[in-house]
Amino acid sequence: MAKTITVLKTITVLNGPNLNLLGTREPEVYGTQTLLDIETKLRTHAKTHGLGINFHQSNIEGELVGWVQDAGMADQGIIINAAAYTHTSVALHDAIAAIQIPVVEVHLSNIYAREDYRHHSYISGVAVGVICGFGAQGYLLALDAIASMLADKKQI
Ligand code: DQA
Repeated sequence: MAKTITVLKTITVLNGPNLNLLGTREPEVYGTQTLLDIETKLRTHAKTHGLGINFHQSNIEGELVGWVQDAGMADQGIIINAAAYTHTSVALHDAIAAIQIPVVEVHLSNIYAREDYRHHSYISGVAVGVICGFGAQGYLLALDAIASMLADKKQI
């Protein structure tokens, strides 16, 4: 009898510069959870949706671009907190525009309630949606959004 192999659907979660410092970095703005805390919660939450997580952080723009390209070929969605590159990176904009999977932009803080230079995002125009201002919870909300989009697609 032929064996059935179930391939786990995966979501790539990308974190930009300085997010490796979460926990001690401006806790009044970004909260006290570390990036590892966020990763652990996301992995647990992803299991409830039957999804796997590839989780990355880099302070280097090109590395993030490479992971967007990789995810576009292998995964079902991307959650990205591009941090400061949100406001500067045409390269990340172009990488996201070049792929077909849904991308959800996340920010821990409400970038629209902060300095003017944080009000523009190069990511938003190529993302399916943006979640900001809900702290670490935003990553879980983004995962719910992608899981729901994938479930809807299955019904079509
Ligand atoms: C951030 C907001 C950005 O403006 C900032 O540069 C960050 C973090 C957030 O998660 O709130 O590094 O993306």
